[in-house]
Amino acid sequence: MGAFSPLDPSSFSRPEQAVIKHVTLSLNVDFENKVLNGSATLDVDVLQDIGDVVLDSSELTIESIELDGAQLTYKLDDPVPNYGSKLTIQLPKRASSGDKLKIKIKYTTSPSATALQWLQPAQTSGKKHPYLFSQCQPIHARSILPCQDTPFVKFTYDAEVTAPEEFTVLMSALRGESRSTKTTFNQPMPLPSYLLAIAVGVLEHRTLGPRSKVWSEKEEIERSAWEFAEAEKYLQAAERLCGAYEWKQYDLLVLPPSFPYGGMENPCLTFVTPTLLAGDRSQADVLIHEIMHSWTGNLVTNRNFEHFWLNEGFTVFLERKVKASLIEDPIEAKKSRDFHSILGLEELSEAVVSQLGVDNPLTRLVPDLHDVHPDDAFSTVPYEKGSLFLRYLEDLIGGPEVFDDFLRSYLKNFSRKSLDTDEFKAYLFNYFQDNEKLKSVDWETWLYKSGMPPVIPDYDTSMTKPITALVAKINQRNASLISYQDVQTFTPHQIMIFLQELIKHPPLPLDILHTLGAEYKIDSSKNTEILYRWLRLCLRSKDQSILGEVFDFVNHIGRMRYVRPLYRDLYDWEDVRNQAIENFLQKRTIHDAVSCSYCEKRFTFN
Ligand code: BES
Ligand code: ZN
Repeated sequence: MGAFSPLDPSSFSRPEQAVIKHVTLSLNVDFENKVLNGSATLDVDVLQDIGDVVLDSSELTIESIELDGAQLTYKLDDPVPNYGSKLTIQLPKRASSGDKLKIKIKYTTSPSATALQWLQPAQTSGKKHPYLFSQCQPIHARSILPCQDTPFVKFTYDAEVTAPEEFTVLMSALRGESRSTKTTFNQPMPLPSYLLAIAVGVLEHRTLGPRSKVWSEKEEIERSAWEFAEAEKYLQAAERLCGAYEWKQYDLLVLPPSFPYGGMENPCLTFVTPTLLAGDRSQADVLIHEIMHSWTGNLVTNRNFEHFWLNEGFTVFLERKVKASLIEDPIEAKKSRDFHSILGLEELSEAVVSQLGVDNPLTRLVPDLHDVHPDDAFSTVPYEKGSLFLRYLEDLIGGPEVFDDFLRSYLKNFSRKSLDTDEFKAYLFNYFQDNEKLKSVDWETWLYKSGMPPVIPDYDTSMTKPITALVAKINQRNASLISYQDVQTFTPHQIMIFLQELIKHPPLPLDILHTLGAEYKIDSSKNTEILYRWLRLCLRSKDQSILGEVFDFVNHIGRMRYVRPLYRDLYDWEDVRNQAIENFLQKRTIHDAVSCSYCEKRFTFN
């Protein structure tokens, strides 16, 4: 096994020696063989005296590698499970700092490339045509192209993609010409490899605003256009907080249900799950979240995935600020922000206390990812512990009045760069030089200790009070007390917290559970955030009658945030464990490689 990069425990590449500045892709989409084939030309800036260039790759078949038209020799190491193969390209003569190399690699991807889902027509809404989409974050880009697959490196790109005529090709870039089978793209902003993205399907689009379109199959296009109609409003609110949106276009692509995330912030083109189409715009949080990544994550990027909280914690923090900024009354705005933070805190405590365990090193804000795959480290911790930490700092330092200016300054300073937690800390200290309060922060505990955060902010609980009261009422276990009036004024988010709370409590007796489901109209909810929590609550009570619906849900929806906990709950219920394993093995094709490997681990090692 080759040594991993000194700058990134998840990459073989050596960006301290040489860095990719620009990539030119020329790819053909071959649905029949489920491969992409063509070439990637890498413009590399040499930083040190070197005799070779080291890249990441995964399951790629390399046809040739050239430098200025001359063939190069290369070595492809044996694959390291989940990390791919180190690709060492021998230079014809040593290169030194300041040299510029143009390396052209002809290659073909594998049908099992971990970044790509090749869907059968049956897995799409139209049922007639296949569909392809990618998911590169965190370290799957190496299965699409040979590259320095570390967010330490940022490059611009151009692409030319051919696909059968009736298909639309989309990428995380500005779309150029589309003539019969060929589409061109240009991404003038530098991005890390994990933000490279492609989707190919028979698609339609609708205009949402001056810089936004929504794309989907035709079956979802009207619902999508309605659900995301407020994109421009959110972009403007985001710009008021963070400064100008620099990526020019902000489009959305609504994917088929096997898409494994709620949303993915691919530049110029956010990917979203169709489970956001709740019909009530109640999942706008995800849209705002992905918009905020245009600044934190895409413009200012974590150096490697140990510092993932700089992406996700910041983004959640900004998402809640922007959402609240749309509420005129400042008191109501604060209530809303705190209310969403409490929901986040609930999720954090479920993950840290009930699931991972307070001593689990993965509950550290900055985990050690040597020998831990970033997909296995994934949890709500960087999101919620990260945003809570920023909220703690904001309160400590003097509130939004001073902290918002700091945020803008931070974004400007690190724009188009990658950074780690120490650089963030140094920048904060430098900015608030005269602030005595900053000296009281226990950095060691916040950043490197496992468990719940050392300080929990004093959130306004006025929106959660009715929920706490209702949970107490339900716990009296008297079905005749349960009526629709209890929740009549609840927002969808209040229902979510209510269910989230109940999941943490001892299982409800079936009669109470069923009365609650029917009276509160929860069991027929079209909102998957509500439905998912409802199914979990039923599983907690070992409700046999819900099993059909649970299997149906996990077999059709790929969103890992739902699928993983549901499989975990199924697994924990001994009587249905075998059925869960059997179902998983049979239906696994709908889940992508990441979600499969997670469930496999769970089933084999538990
Ligand atoms: N960037 C993430 C998705 C991601 C994380 C993909 C890690 C691969 C590895 C995205 O911005 C995200 O956080 N999505 C969330 C929604 C959000 C509202 C918390 C999701 O998918 O649930
Ligand atoms: Zn995110």
